[in-house]
Amino acid sequence: MEFISRYAALLLALSATASCLRRVVPLSPAAGETIGAAYFMSNEPSGNYIFASGIATNGSLTLRKAYYTGGTGVHGFADGPDPLFSESGIAASKVNNMLLTVNPGSGSLSAFRIDPREPTELELLGKPVSSSGDFPVSVTMNRAGDMACVLNGGKVNGISCFTVNSRKGLIPRPNTLRSLGLNQTTPATGPFATAGHITFSEDETRLMVSVKGVPPIPGLVATPGFLAIWDVAQDGTLSEQFSSIVGGILPWSVTNIPGKNAVISADAALGFDIFPLDRCDKVKQIPIPTQLANCWTGYSKNTGNFYLSDLLTAHITEVHIDENLNATIVRRYDTDEYDGTIEFDIASVGGTDHLYVLAANVTSIEVFALNGPGNATRIQKLHAGDVAHRAGLQLRGDFVSGLTTWVKTL
Ligand SMILES: *[C@@H]1O[C@H](CO)[C@@H](O)[C@H](O)[C@H]1NC(C)=O
Ligand SMILES: *[C@@H]1O[C@H](CO)[C@@H](O)[C@H](O)[C@H]1NC(C)=O
Ligand SMILES: *[C@@H]1O[C@H](CO)[C@@H](O)[C@H](O)[C@H]1NC(C)=O
Ligand SMILES: *[C@@H]1O[C@H](CO)[C@@H](O)[C@H](O)[C@H]1NC(C)=O
Ligand SMILES: *[C@@H]1O[C@H](CO)[C@@H](O)[C@H](O)[C@H]1NC(C)=O
Repeated sequence: MEFISRYAALLLALSATASCLRRVVPLSPAAGETIGAAYFMSNEPSGNYIFASGIATNGSLTLRKAYYTGGTGVHGFADGPDPLFSESGIAASKVNNMLLTVNPGSGSLSAFRIDPREPTELELLGKPVSSSGDFPVSVTMNRAGDMACVLNGGKVNGISCFTVNSRKGLIPRPNTLRSLGLNQTTPATGPFATAGHITFSEDETRLMVSVKGVPPIPGLVATPGFLAIWDVAQDGTLSEQFSSIVGGILPWSVTNIPGKNAVISADAALGFDIFPLDRCDKVKQIPIPTQLANCWTGYSKNTGNFYLSDLLTAHITEVHIDENLNATIVRRYDTDEYDGTIEFDIASVGGTDHLYVLAANVTSIEVFALNGPGNATRIQKLHAGDVAHRAGLQLRGDFVSGLTTWVKTL
């Protein structure tokens, strides 16, 4: 009898959990023609959801639907927004219309198919697959969209890669599970000495990962940051060991500098770092005078400039990098105080690049039109929190993470 009632209670608990985890949650009706979508994740421990917003022809956003990933989120051991200490928790490909997301709490990845006619419509492919490590925080796809690699930042940390199949989702690739060897916890204790961002080099012969150091703070042993670099062979297998380029203090992100065989990394301790990959040149550390925590970088083809987002000042900084890798600060753009701007993506809409930045602290997305070098204008602030709560979904500023876009090729 007691067994039966306990069993019944368990069933009740399970069905309660199941009823909370609705697969697709409508948020608001469509508003006109949609030519793309912006996605971010709730990263909630009770269930990770992808929030999809439509991009209109003028670049503005409408929140549309949320999709359960089948996995869970988690907050690393640290306070405040940016729970993963990372960039690129979500990746999308226009080649195969796939959207990949990490589930940091369940050590897994989910794959969705994007409907190219209506990109806010997502279809989950199968069940999440193991990330082959703990606390996955960043995922990337190659240009062909047939290979994906994930960065694990927890106790078992390192990288592993998958074949991307638009019917079956992610299939583990042999000879790609590689250790980073960090002394970390699950979830990671951050932000110091944590893994940040995984990206292919421009020629896709290398996979690069940023690792933050420890700043010179009394009571801590200071160590510099570094880039860990694995060689990618023709058959997609990886070198056994990584080589490293040491530099910066808290290098967070990795963005290729086109045509330069170098990368820019936002450095939360000072501004940004430039890592030449051929290793003859020195790593440059470039201060941004007003900065508090620049952690994310992106590039605009239209303006030819780089953009950085600062969590604590909520400023977007535009940077120009010349032929000799000399950098100048072009302009600073404000959002609202306490916006807590974290990840962003840049997408071309109607011939103009637009910057979509997750204003994490206020569960919103800020939209800028990048009209030209030094001429970005703020065009929208999309509030997602209230809409999510009305639909019965939890969305918290300290948990939201990852932001990427997908735009139709017209
Ligand atoms: C952009 O388009 C959306 C949807 O059609 C519309 O609601 C919004 O007012 C437009 N914004 C501007 C600045 O024209
Ligand atoms: C790993 O980190 C913990 C906590 O900081 C420390 O106590 C331990 O000695 C470290 N282990 C190694 C092998 O460095
Ligand atoms: C730009 O970079 C080159 C090569 O690294 C250096 O010699 C030169 O002094 C730099 N110019 C400026 C204006 O900083
Ligand atoms: C988040 O908002 C609260 C006020 O609601 C503020 O006290 C806090 O400083 C903000 N955090 C960031 C990172 O902006
Ligand atoms: C900035 O872009 C806007 C919108 O395209 C344009 O109207 C304005 O003239 C530009 N300003 C400058 C200084 O180029």
